[in-house]
Amino acid sequence: MRVLVTGAAGFIGYHLCERLLARGDTVIGLDNLDGTGDVTLKATRLSRLKADSGFSFHRLDIRDTKACREIFEEARPERVVHLAARVGVRSTSEEVGEYTETNVSGFLQVLERCREAKVRHLVFASSSSVYGLGTPVPFSEQAAADRPTSVYGATKRADELLAHVYSHTYGIPVTGLRFFSVYGPWGRPDMAPMLFLRAILEGRPITLYDEGRMQRDFTYVDDVVEAALRVLDKAPGGTPPYRLLNVGRGAPVSMAHFLDVLEERVGLRAWVELKPAQRSELAVTYADVTALERETGFRPSVSLEEGLARLVRWYRGEEG
Ligand SMILES: NC(=O)c1ccc[n+]([C@@H]2O[C@H](COP(=O)([O-])OP(=O)(O)OC[C@H]3O[C@@H](n4cnc5c(N)ncnc54)[C@H](O)[C@@H]3O)[C@@H](O)[C@H]2O)c1
Repeated sequence: MRVLVTGAAGFIGYHLCERLLARGDTVIGLDNLDGTGDVTLKATRLSRLKADSGFSFHRLDIRDTKACREIFEEARPERVVHLAARVGVRSTSEEVGEYTETNVSGFLQVLERCREAKVRHLVFASSSSVYGLGTPVPFSEQAAADRPTSVYGATKRADELLAHVYSHTYGIPVTGLRFFSVYGPWGRPDMAPMLFLRAILEGRPITLYDEGRMQRDFTYVDDVVEAALRVLDKAPGGTPPYRLLNVGRGAPVSMAHFLDVLEERVGLRAWVELKPAQRSELAVTYADVTALERETGFRPSVSLEEGLARLVRWYRGEEG
């Protein structure tokens, strides 16, 4: 199978490409390697992927119509996984244009190319951030997602709506995956697991908002990739061929508890600074994964204790 993956140098993109290559798929990776996030980390992930002859890489911005069209025409992907995005819920007012340009205009570009290329299935990354204020827990795909608290969440919800239009109008099979706080080796340095781990080991302070009461449904990256692969292999039926699925562990923990488990795995205490709750952050995220399990026969299963133990071992160079 020929699979085109956008955001291939990113955290989830890297792991997904590795798994696709391991099972013998041909992978065409796209990424603009932009300055947001850790550029060296992106380069390292990419060099590991390039070691596999089934992988080809194109450095480009998904907003570049000409370049994207050329790649799609040349690569003729059967399936597309769209992961490229401007990420993170704490955007400043100077950054909001970047979010809408990459996440909404960039996604429209991908939809257009998928329409032209008649791809058999487009899977794209949405987020738990689409669930805004007042959503009952656990978060179900049926719940209204119309009161987001961040620009990022709003752009992801916009993507879901645009994808529905394309699926309805052109019959493109599309699945949107609402990822919940993904963590693991090669993870994003801006997210709590890597941020906290590094700070503990380097003796720097970490910030806990709302006294650590915020709850997150942390999901280990291997589980996320397994779910994404199973989804990719099974395009939705129905009219339109469109679905949204939560991909989360379904076991939220408070940030205070998360930190306790991490400290225990590292064997060191953190230096904690407390700050008030942030308006852009939800108090809790909690995935109902009934639909994912029904569609794929799989539900994420790596516990926080096991996942953090693996993360720490990887960081210390004890496993690949
Ligand atoms: N990691 C999580 O916990 C999480 C949770 C919910 C949703 N998601 C979504 O999953 C996807 C992957 O997330 P991730 O954690 O791997 O993020 P990441 O930042 O590690 O990866 C995103 C990649 O997209 C690339 N990119 C950004 N803008 C681009 C553009 N205009 N053109 C081409 N490439 C561009 C970046 O260089 C980066 O390598 C994103 O869409 C994100 O919103 C992630």
